[in-house]
Amino acid sequence: MPDMLLPDMLAPQLQGTIFGKHIHHYYKIGSTNTAAMEAASAGAPEGSVFLAEQQTAGRGRGTNHWHSEPALGIYCSVVLRPAVPPSDVLVVTLAAGLAVHAAIQEIDSRIAPDLKWPNDVLIGNKKVCGILTEMNAEITRVRYIVMGIGINVNQSAFPTDLHDIATSLRLVSGTEWSRLELCTSLLKSLDREYRSLLESPDGVNSILRRFQERSSSAKGRQIEVEEDASLQGVTDGLDERGFLKVRTAQGVRTVLSGTVKLK
Ligand code: BTN
Repeated sequence: MPDMLLPDMLAPQLQGTIFGKHIHHYYKIGSTNTAAMEAASAGAPEGSVFLAEQQTAGRGRGTNHWHSEPALGIYCSVVLRPAVPPSDVLVVTLAAGLAVHAAIQEIDSRIAPDLKWPNDVLIGNKKVCGILTEMNAEITRVRYIVMGIGINVNQSAFPTDLHDIATSLRLVSGTEWSRLELCTSLLKSLDREYRSLLESPDGVNSILRRFQERSSSAKGRQIEVEEDASLQGVTDGLDERGFLKVRTAQGVRTVLSGTVKLK
């Protein structure tokens, strides 16, 4: 059976989640995030999923490109419509990192992924997953969020410029992974995290606590913010909205945006 992320294969396993009803699959597309943003703006319902075997213009955070070779990774974007203000969206992104962490561990519990704030998943200090969250919002109300998740699954090598910073699940485990199984597990975990975030009174605290437990760098780690060289120091956990606190020579500062460089 080909290991493709086909709606007919995924939908039955996702019944009862918000992701089971509107799954779109592309063999080749520019970017699943772009497709999902366009669809969301045209009214695509919450839980719509956009999956591709290959992206020709996969986007990362900032101006970064996401390396998206055919059939080797998971390139997945979902549409969410939480009734929250834009300032609460960071926690949703943190929840997605937890969902990726859980999905990987569910399939191979020997692997210990490490979350790097706000939304990278590392294994052995190399990136195995990136999450790009984009939104359309009014000042007090989110209209929709598109959360794009890229996971390096079965790559056996990366181009030279990524060689030292990227890895795949195949490279770390020595075996080939079923993308279908991982993608099912990912969307189930994401559904669980998202529901408990919105429905449980302790949802936000639970995400903040578990994120910090699964991140070796959220506390006590020397870091520098790439876009702001003056913001460097030792991490001091997350604040109540999920922003990263850093003890600097000028006192405790909060990282609101930018890329955190571990030193
Ligand atoms: C990052 O770490 O910079 C975020 C990378 C996000 C990549 C995913 S792949 C699926 C979705 N479509 C895109 O164009 N980007 C995201």
